[in-house]
Order: sequence, then structure tokens, then C-alpha cells
Amino acid sequence: MSKKLRLGVNIDHVATIRNARGGAHPDPIRAAQIAAAAGADGITAHLREDRRHISDEDIDRLMDTLSLPLNLEMAATPEMLEIALRHKPHAACIVPERREERTTEGGLDAVRGRETLRPLVGALTESGVRVSLFVEPDPLQLDAAKAIGAPVVELHTGAYCDAGPQRRAQELQRVVAAAAHAEAIGLECHAGHGLAYDTVGPVAAIATIVELNIGHFLIGEAIFVGLDDSIRRMRALMDGARRR
Ligand code: PXP
Repeated sequence: MSKKLRLGVNIDHVATIRNARGGAHPDPIRAAQIAAAAGADGITAHLREDRRHISDEDIDRLMDTLSLPLNLEMAATPEMLEIALRHKPHAACIVPERREERTTEGGLDAVRGRETLRPLVGALTESGVRVSLFVEPDPLQLDAAKAIGAPVVELHTGAYCDAGPQRRAQELQRVVAAAAHAEAIGLECHAGHGLAYDTVGPVAAIATIVELNIGHFLIGEAIFVGLDDSIRRMRALMDGARRR
């Protein structure tokens, strides 16, 4: 039987729009409340080193007011570790971060980063935070995540979503194979990045993936149909693909 599929709504880009004018509107916390009412199972927010979207105050307010579990995306730095240990969100997803990138452009290199990641994952796990590593759908990365002690991996679906029609099936196959490998070695499997209405179905249909984290498309689509509608439609597409 396939496992329940959770939807984590990433609210970063509500903060991007707010920050364009430097005021308080639109408020990402209000977006989180709408997401909760529309069927999200969790809220994801990436506190970047340069604070280009989510701010420290947003994290304070999310921790104080949110009814859903918070998944804090964070780089593997001492500053972020201190913040995560202070707040103890439900989950933390460790992502690579480069200042000059527009978005998280690839997965973590858990193979080469083993020694840096191990103590960080250990400290978070000890404080009760469920840690995931955001990695490419590559069995070597999953083996490294397991060796480091992370209980969860989030598979980067960017290459699959960005692929043209010629490569898409091949990129999807990498995600399918990685999800099977995660299951075989005892890792909980999540996925995300770049997912939209036309790409979510085949990923949602992978029975061992239990969480999708989706942001940019939902917030962009909300401009046209409203956030409640964009989330409900995504939820319906996920649930429909899962049932099939
Ligand atoms: N998962 C992770 C680890 C991410 O870094 C991001 C982007 O912040 C997402 C999921 C969501 O990606 P998108 O905004 O493209 O839906």
C-alpha cells in the first residue's frame, strides 16, 4: 500500500515580493495560514545567509504562530545551526547555498561533505529536529546520507522539471530509482524543486516518496488564481496521481 503523501508549501517567495518594497506586505505568515486551510501538511521556509527572502523575524513568528510543522531549509553553517538549535523546528532540510545563485541549483555533495555534515546532523537530531539532506537522485549521495546518520533525504527534482521532452523520462527514471534505493537502505524519501502542475504527477505517483516541497510555482500561480486555489489544485493533482 502506498504511504500518505504530504505537501510542504514553501513560502519563501511571498517574502521575496514583500522585500521588493521593504514593508510588511504580503506577509508570509498569512500565506502559511492560507496554506494550512488549503490542505498543506507543512510549511517550508529557507533562511538564507543573505536573508534575501525569509527573515529571522519570519522564523520567530512562524515558530510562535504556526499550526503546521515547520521545515527549515538551511545551509550547513555554524550560524544556521545555532538558529535551528534555538528554534527546534519540526524538521530541517540541509541545502547547499551559494550567494550568487538565484535558487538552490543542485543537491548537497554528501559524499565529499561527510565530515562537515555528520556533526551538524548529529546535533540537530539530538535536539529532536528531523533532518533531511537535499541531494541529487544519485545512489551514492543516498548512501552517504545514510552513513552520515540523516533519517531523511529530499531528492532534487530540478533536472527532471527542467528537462525537455527528450530527456524528461530519463530524468524521471533517476528519481524513481533513487526513491527505490532510499527505501531499500531505510531512508525516508521526500522530493522537491521546480515542481508544477504538469510535472508533479509522475513524482507524486512514486509510492515511497512521502513528502513534496513546492514553492515557486504555487506562489507564482497564486497571482492569477489566489493562493488557496493554487494549493488546492496541486493537492488534488498529487492525490489523484497517488491513487492511480
Ligand atoms: N526543496 C528544497 C530543498 C528547496 O531548496 C526548494 C527551493 O527553495 C524547494 C524544495 C522548492 O522549490 P520550488 O520553489 O522550485 O518549488
